[in-house]
Amino acid sequence: MKLPIIVLPLLPSTWAYTTLSNSTLVSSSISSPRDSSISHLDPASLLSRILIPRVPGTPGHASVQSHLVEFARTKLHGDWVVEWHNSTSKTPATGDKEVPFQNLVLRRDPPWVSARAKEDRGDTGRLVLAAHYDSLYKPEGFVGAVDSAVPCAMLMEVLRGVDEGLTRMWEKEGTENGGNDGLDPEKGVMVLLLDGEEAWVSWGEDDSLYGSRALAETWENTKYENGNHFDGPLQAISLFVLLDLLGAAGPTVPSYFEKTHWAYENMARIEQRMRGLGVLETKPKTPFLYEAEKQEWFQRGYIQDDHVPFMRRGVDILHIIPTPFPGVWHTMDDDAAHLDVSTIRDWTRIVTAFVAEWMDLEGYMPENEAKGDGGNEAESRYPEKDEL
Ligand SMILES: *[C@@H]1O[C@H](CO)[C@@H](O)[C@H](O)[C@H]1NC(C)=O
Ligand SMILES: *[C@@H]1O[C@H](CO)[C@@H](O)[C@H](O)[C@H]1NC(C)=O
Ligand SMILES: [Zn+2]
Repeated sequence: MKLPIIVLPLLPSTWAYTTLSNSTLVSSSISSPRDSSISHLDPASLLSRILIPRVPGTPGHASVQSHLVEFARTKLHGDWVVEWHNSTSKTPATGDKEVPFQNLVLRRDPPWVSARAKEDRGDTGRLVLAAHYDSLYKPEGFVGAVDSAVPCAMLMEVLRGVDEGLTRMWEKEGTENGGNDGLDPEKGVMVLLLDGEEAWVSWGEDDSLYGSRALAETWENTKYENGNHFDGPLQAISLFVLLDLLGAAGPTVPSYFEKTHWAYENMARIEQRMRGLGVLETKPKTPFLYEAEKQEWFQRGYIQDDHVPFMRRGVDILHIIPTPFPGVWHTMDDDAAHLDVSTIRDWTRIVTAFVAEWMDLEGYMPENEAKGDGGNEAESRYPEKDEL
């Protein structure tokens, strides 16, 4: 069915964005991300399992892939669709060999949409969160902690952080209203763990962004049949949030794009509010997201990263990457020893709250429970940053 076009004020970007209450920020599960996902100090954590060389096509790469999939299968309880998008390419370092580049795609749409059609039919606009999981080919042994093991582990923990809230909200909406009337697009969440971001020899159009280039091209050529609201998966991206080079202490992330500054402001406001409420552990002189008040938009170069193939195709981008880059960038020092666990936890809290606001989860977030693998584990094990 194609609905008639009704002229409405088009506010896709700000539609029904619900601010979280103080008590949700303080005492829901948002305030205590799990170290078993994101702490390099826990040798069994997801992050520790990603912190190995993972050059595409190598055993380390395959091992990381299986840990990511296993996390999705065992730690996420909602109806997440987990799919691979695979391609191959030659690289300047590997001659005639076709190197595999395999993006992992996780998405969750409202249950009544999933029930209507197993396939994606263009009913749902998605908040997309992305990071790359491959590591540099050289120097040998490089583990890419901020680049981008930490963002990948964080995104998995963010999904875990909103999983139960989504279930509760959609159960209630499904019961009360039988779901949506189909007039408005639904809202869903997607995580892209992208492959082949790194250049093999030197950065250029043909040597970098292997996974994201292939995915953006595939999606550009995919059209929904009988799409209700969106023509294809690219149009169904409401916002593409790319995380990169996070996990070192003292990050400063500018607002790169005027077009999505409203989204940056929302995330920055979450950081400010969480700092005011004492939810965050770090006490930086400059906030992580320090440009909420930005007024002047000079022509500024943007950083080449996985968003580019999507941005060129008209997708709105929020790029969460520090300027300047962490000092360890692309050196052997980009390892566990140079991470700051408080900063990682604070980023996870901020991004989880951002997703919860986007998805209107106020009133549905589970309590922060101080037991088992959840709850206050973080606080009790690592009470003060100084003690580490
Ligand atoms: C894509 O790659 C993944 C990871 O290696 C693999 O498990 C999956 O079977 C591949 N899918 C296809 C269709 O080849
Ligand atoms: C929320 O917390 C902030 C910071 O502590 C405070 O200024 C504000 O009044 C609180 N709002 C409500 C509704 O309690
Ligand atoms: Zn890199």
